[in-house]
Parts: sequence; structure tokens; C-alpha cells
Amino acid sequence: MEILQTEDRGGEVIIDKYYDGIRFPANIPGNVKDQLVSVKNLKHTKGDVFLDTFPKTGTHWAYEILYMLQTGKAEYSSDPFMCLEFQATDRLDAFEGPRVLKSHLYPQHIPKFVEDGKCKVVYIYRNPKDTAVSLYSFIKRVNVNGLKGYNGTWEHFFEIFATKPMHYNSWFEHVKAWLDFKKENAEIPILMVSYEDMKKDLRSCVKKMAEHLDVKRNPEFLDEVANKCQFNVMSKAQRSNVKETTLSKDGSNPFYRKGGVGDWKNWLTVAQNEMYDAMLQEKMADIDLEIKYTL
Ligand code: A3P
Repeated sequence: MEILQTEDRGGEVIIDKYYDGIRFPANIPGNVKDQLVSVKNLKHTKGDVFLDTFPKTGTHWAYEILYMLQTGKAEYSSDPFMCLEFQATDRLDAFEGPRVLKSHLYPQHIPKFVEDGKCKVVYIYRNPKDTAVSLYSFIKRVNVNGLKGYNGTWEHFFEIFATKPMHYNSWFEHVKAWLDFKKENAEIPILMVSYEDMKKDLRSCVKKMAEHLDVKRNPEFLDEVANKCQFNVMSKAQRSNVKETTLSKDGSNPFYRKGGVGDWKNWLTVAQNEMYDAMLQEKMADIDLEIKYTL
């Protein structure tokens, strides 16, 4: 494991732990390797669901939906766990479930039982422009190892987001790795859902997820899940989540901000947008996924 620093043009740095080809956030425990070994060997519990995302693409949102579908109760989870790569896995092994295991891991690092097709997988993706805005806003708000000192400008941050590897390498690499993994492992039940589709028609996405999990839930229950997981309702309920508010500098919950599609238009300058669109043309050539930037 190596400690790597990504320096922006203003000299501000983001620190990562680099291991096995991936840049992990510096607050992953220890040497990363031991943590990944524990994740790989995590025990399977009947009914487990595995949720994977690139950071800031709707992890918490999808988590609550999947948890409600899995438990059959339209109640928010008290989610005692963080993403797998940040979590002491002995606690997870001792937890009876039902479990929605969330992570930002690349396919090569997911638990063995997930690779073996023993549980349902959901991958959420979001357009990279809104993801960049959300990530920047998050990084400025949090107070965690490797990030608390970052005080770069949006201009400088966007430049590194677009052109340099940072947390989990890059949006492109992550999405491509999961698309390839899905293609090459047809026997693993993977559902890919976009943040934008969830925003456009949450009820349909909730139904799709219920079908994927193969849980029988009546239409009224699906309505209730969709209502409780709308941004305004859910973010209000999570405002005082103690586990999450302690991560921020100002005591707010850093995982909730605007919860919309297209906020990037308020952030990217014309020049930034042109630069990024030119890059997208090239990078998206081998990413077979429709990405929506507006609703
Ligand atoms: P914004 O910063 O654009 O508001 P993650 O959970 O992966 O960290 O993602 C965080 C992003 O998801 C934030 O985006 C957050 O506001 C948004 N989000 C959280 N809950 C949501 C919900 N119920 N509906 C829509 N967006 C939600």
C-alpha cells in the first residue's frame, strides 16, 4: 500500500491509499489489503443484498429502498454499518440481518459469495457532472482523514476530477468495470439503475428493484416506499443521523444536499463543460450505457 496525494493546481491535496491498482480514500482502515481480505471472506447470510456505487451517486437512497423492500417494512434503517471497505467485518459477520451490504468497491474486491452469484446485486450510476458537483460539496463538508484539509476551489477540483485519478480512480473506470463484470458474469443477478431514472419515476424503480430481489410486495407498500424515499421526506428524516452528522465540519448530514438532476449547470462554466463533453465523447465510446444529464 502506498499513500498517494493528488494535488490540484492551487496546491490543495486529496490523500488516497493506493493498493491493487485502486486509489482508496485514506480513511479506509490500516493497509487496505487486510480490509479487502476480510471483505472477500465475509460470510454469506440468507437474503443478503449487495449494493455497489461510485461515491455520491445515490448510495444512501438506494440503500433505504432496498432495506425497506427486504424487510417488508416502510421504515428507515438504523443502518449501523458503513460501506464494507470502511467497516470492521467481524461486526458484519455477527449481524444476523437482513443485510444490505453497500460498497464502492471494484468487482475484483467484492465478497467471494457475491462473485459466486449467491446474492442479488444492485449497481446505481449517476451522470458524472452531477456526481462531480456532489463529490466536491461533500469533500468540502466532511472532516475525515485525507479530506479534512482539502480546501480547493471548484475550478481546481473539477480539473482533477476530470483529468486525474482520485478516490476509486475515476467515474469512467468504475462504471466500465461494473458493466464489463455484468457482461462477463451473466449468472450473477446484477440490476443497474440510474439515479436519473430514480428521480424521474421512483415508483417504477422501486418496483423494478422489488422484482429483482424477488420479494412479493403489494402496490400500496411500493407506494409507501417510494413516498418515504423521496428526497424531501428522506433527507428530513436523516438530518439528525448521529453516525453521519459526526462526519461533517458543521454538524449537518453531509450525505444530503439538493438531491436533484442537472445542478451541474449551476457549477460548470461553458469552458469546463466543453472540455468535459469533448472528453466524454472519447471516454464513453466503450461504455454502453445511456447517461442522462437532465430530466
Ligand atoms: P447531491 O449532493 O447532488 O444533493 P451518496 O449516498 O452516494 O453519498 O450520494 C449522495 C447524493 O445523493 C447527494 O446528492 C444526496 O443529496 C443525494 N440523495 C440522498 N438521498 C436522496 C434521495 N432520497 N433522493 C434523491 N437524491 C438523494
